[in-house]
Amino acid sequence: MKKITILDLQKMKDNGEKITMLTAYDYPTARILDESGVDILLIGDSVGNVMMGFDNTLPVTVDDIIYHTKAVAKARKKALVVADMPFMSYQVSIEEAKINAGRMIQEGGAEAVKLEGGENMEAVIRALSDIDIPVMGHIGLTPQSIHRMGGYKIQGKEERQRQKLLADARAVERAGAFSLVLEAIPADLAQEITSSLQIPTIGIGAGIHCDGQVLVIHDVLGLSGSFRPKFVKQYVQLEPLIKKAVTAFISEVKEEKFPTTAHSF
Ligand code: KIV
Repeated sequence: MKKITILDLQKMKDNGEKITMLTAYDYPTARILDESGVDILLIGDSVGNVMMGFDNTLPVTVDDIIYHTKAVAKARKKALVVADMPFMSYQVSIEEAKINAGRMIQEGGAEAVKLEGGENMEAVIRALSDIDIPVMGHIGLTPQSIHRMGGYKIQGKEERQRQKLLADARAVERAGAFSLVLEAIPADLAQEITSSLQIPTIGIGAGIHCDGQVLVIHDVLGLSGSFRPKFVKQYVQLEPLIKKAVTAFISEVKEEKFPTTAHSF
């Protein structure tokens, strides 16, 4: 099994081969996703919503991301491991951004970091790239900007926003990022950005024309309760299966059907 690097992702774009990315936050899930052949494992700051039950990603800390990155990196054999830089870990100063991104690589075992922002983050992306920390950009609906955006809304519908997102995408590439996440933007805008950049784009709610696609693993597996945005495709519903297994365990214990002699010494 060949290890994926950022160079392979560029080759995939150049050859027209689609890139796959899924979030992972723990060892067993990361092992299964890696063995299934996904190209990138993202320790997203969505860990805040998905694993910690917060309403948004803002409370997630650098230590939270490092903790989960360690578990994912331990399981990974093939995929590229990308750690998300949480809110306020790169916005205050370039120095802090370098220290925090460095910790994610050195302590967490990530091979790259992701951060949200376009022109406003050009200097940060350049500073990290210059010290050989590969950066994945993220524009469009950027969940860390929820209070400015006034909620989770599709971005780039109006012409002025569209032009701004095109400028943001160019700034991210110019700064040295190796790829760019496009979240919740119209498919034709994602197509325009994708064809105007050399680096690969990875879409979530951004249509078919991106160079790759990313989803949150709990959404894919049907473990997100009633939360189901339009762009999510649920490939299996694990929640009823888990409930069935757990209720069977409970009744067998109550009825003294488990353990049997087969499970006893
Ligand atoms: O935090 C996350 O999971 C993400 C992806 C949805 C791109 O940023």
